[in-house]
Amino acid sequence: MTQKQTAHDAAHDPRNDDLTYYLNGALVDHAHAVVSIYDSGFMLGDGVWEGLRLYDGRWAFVDEHLDRLFEAAKAIDLDIGMTRAEILAALEDTRAANGMETDAHARLMVTRGVKTRPFQHPALSQQGPTVAIIMEHSRPTLPRPIRMATVPHIRGLPMTQDPKLNSHSKLNCILAAIAADKAGADEALMLDVHGFVNTTNSCNFFIVRNGEVWTSTGDYCMNGITRAKVIELCRTAAIPVFEKNFSLVETYGADEAFLTGTFGAQTPVGEIDGRVIGSGKIGPVTERIRVLYKGLIQQETV
Ligand SMILES: Cc1ncc(COP(=O)(O)O)c(C=O)c1O
Repeated sequence: MTQKQTAHDAAHDPRNDDLTYYLNGALVDHAHAVVSIYDSGFMLGDGVWEGLRLYDGRWAFVDEHLDRLFEAAKAIDLDIGMTRAEILAALEDTRAANGMETDAHARLMVTRGVKTRPFQHPALSQQGPTVAIIMEHSRPTLPRPIRMATVPHIRGLPMTQDPKLNSHSKLNCILAAIAADKAGADEALMLDVHGFVNTTNSCNFFIVRNGEVWTSTGDYCMNGITRAKVIELCRTAAIPVFEKNFSLVETYGADEAFLTGTFGAQTPVGEIDGRVIGSGKIGPVTERIRVLYKGLIQQETV
């Protein structure tokens, strides 16, 4: 059996054994990076988060990440209690405390904070939000292209739990990941309510057919920042790109497939439901998009 991997695997880095974390205005070590069992995030998954990546001293696409964070917080009626500048300062302080310059990943989390009693109603969260940052040295490593399995868990309609909310509660995605794992795959391919191919449990999903790049319409999936950048890059480079409905038939028959996300940028897919995609290796269009994306990151960091 081939070794297990995930779309977020990173090379082991011993510097991660002694990290400094941000928690509610303080920089703390691992032993003190703890929240209450009354925290809304722990008890109910009531919070929002962002994953950001550091390249050459700069947080890539930080404006877009902060826009999405504040939009999600507003949508769940959560007052972060910090300005954008204060959040950025918290990221920078944590970065400096860890001596990080490049290839670092931050998980910025905001929950509704500590509750007075162990029940659901948000009015029970009366102490203000909990803001925490986990920052790790991380270099994605991928011994082989990702293997995917289609799962029964779908991306739902926006009036249940809008898939555009980067919420702490990720149970739908976690169940999808478990189903994929049980099927011997690394990542779950999730369909939308109509049965069209939509996205994955933790990344956005693209296929390449006859030189054209296809991704879902954008309904039902996370409004991924990397997804948006890939679409923009394709348009600029005159690579035909379409946001459209497509099925598993067109997916199995694709020449290439790849995932997008802040952590892995563009991650090649080798197999879906036991069907080899194209050559089973990273394809030329995915390679080209990776090069273009690296260029964009370099432009961002000058
Ligand atoms: C479900 C899901 N899809 C896709 C993404 C990728 O989004 P981005 O490219 O902004 O990292 C994420 C990341 O938070 C996610 O949670």
